Amino acid sequence: MSLESIVALTKRRGFIFPGSEIYGGFAGTYDFGPLGVALRKNIVDLWTRSMQEHDNMAQLDSSIVTSGKVWEASGHVSGFSDPLVLCKACHTKHRADHVLEAIGVTADEKMSEKELNELFDEHRKNLTCPNCGKKDFGAVTAKNLLATTSLGMFEEGDTQSYLRGETAQGIYINFKNVLDTGFYSVPFGIAQVGKAFRNEISPRQFLFRKREFEQMEMQYFTPESEARADFAAWKEERMNYYLSLGINPDKLRFKQHENLVFYAKDACDIEYEYPFGWGELEGIHYRGNYDLTQHQQFSGVDLSVYNEETKERFLPHVVETSVGLDRTMLMILSDAYHEDEMGGDKRVVLKFNPKLAPIKAMVSPLLKNKPELVEKAREVRAALKKVHPVIAWDDNGNIGKRYRRQDEIGTPFCITIDFDTLGENPELLNTVTLRDRDTGTQERLTIAEVEEKIRQAVS
Ligand code: GAP
Repeated sequence: MSLESIVALTKRRGFIFPGSEIYGGFAGTYDFGPLGVALRKNIVDLWTRSMQEHDNMAQLDSSIVTSGKVWEASGHVSGFSDPLVLCKACHTKHRADHVLEAIGVTADEKMSEKELNELFDEHRKNLTCPNCGKKDFGAVTAKNLLATTSLGMFEEGDTQSYLRGETAQGIYINFKNVLDTGFYSVPFGIAQVGKAFRNEISPRQFLFRKREFEQMEMQYFTPESEARADFAAWKEERMNYYLSLGINPDKLRFKQHENLVFYAKDACDIEYEYPFGWGELEGIHYRGNYDLTQHQQFSGVDLSVYNEETKERFLPHVVETSVGLDRTMLMILSDAYHEDEMGGDKRVVLKFNPKLAPIKAMVSPLLKNKPELVEKAREVRAALKKVHPVIAWDDNGNIGKRYRRQDEIGTPFCITIDFDTLGENPELLNTVTLRDRDTGTQERLTIAEVEEKIRQAVS
């Protein structure tokens, strides 16, 4: 399966559209159509529910635009950059580490601009532009990824403000506010879902690297003595979470970070094997108490917590779990995408977990020109909509075509109302056929049994 086939299907069926398409596009952005919105909402709901399973988990929705001082304190203004290199032949911009990677050379994330230039120069004669194929690169420069904004009444001398580069900083700056509500005590977590923005040098691989994207982040504030055990527990929990969604275990793995940034105590990624190869899905980081220390120092506000037992104040340590909604969506689409043969026909099918499927079931009268069938089918649909609101209707074309359309968008169940439902065969009165997306098998069930089956599959 290729990335191109997923891109084509998701556009054709209304999951994902290229950003600003009618104006020729706008790199690093995508718009989400009706089915895309539904899939994203289901992903967010499941992630939120997995966080809510912890008794001590708060939720937050902090601003996208914050005081610029937040990003000075966090270190993003001075140190949140990627190495940029310009092709002098075709004037396209590239990430120097990606250009090096193409010939099998790995640049350490912590390398300074000078060290990267030395490494680049060492291999320069072998490095070709991914766009024009020429060997004519300029020098490597560190390009800050924060996107500036002019929101606010700016006056000369005001601190520059930014669109947030991650949602995590909004959590750190509200740590004390949440604690002061009196409903939480250390150890506890704050979970947040929201947009983040980065001036990525080369947005690529569809939803994998965008300039405007969405994150689902959780910061767990814990005493230093418990932090390593918490880090190990969160690692296990997050991997089990993906397995519980039915993601292919052979396509998931941990990747330990070898070269930690100076404040980090431990870090690993959960990687997925996307159609273009292994790549980061989620980061799990033990960050010490660096973030609270920085914000305490820059803001002058005491962010420490009182320990009743030791009678001392302390700054909690933080274990972070951070995953992109867009990368999760790409993983789920890649994992679900299958091409197979059913009844002698080739088909494309998205084998979504029913909990994630944008549409839970489709109801169909066998023939659309028989009012009694249509009326009964509408009645069945109305009953199923009480179990879950997203139950589709399709009476177009023959039944096989209707099934294929639903297979392509991952609808787990198709329900057909025929003359037996109406009592042509009295033994089958008020029964319907329920067709399973993955196997194509059909079973005859009562309407109550179908309701129960859908209820169990989606909840
Ligand atoms: N707060 C920690 C943090 O932001 P990160 O590794 O830079 O760490 C976390 O980002 C996650 O956000 C990544 O694992 C990925 O899923 C997602 N992500 C990061 N940059 C992205 C981008 N440009 N486009 C889409 N998703 C991105």
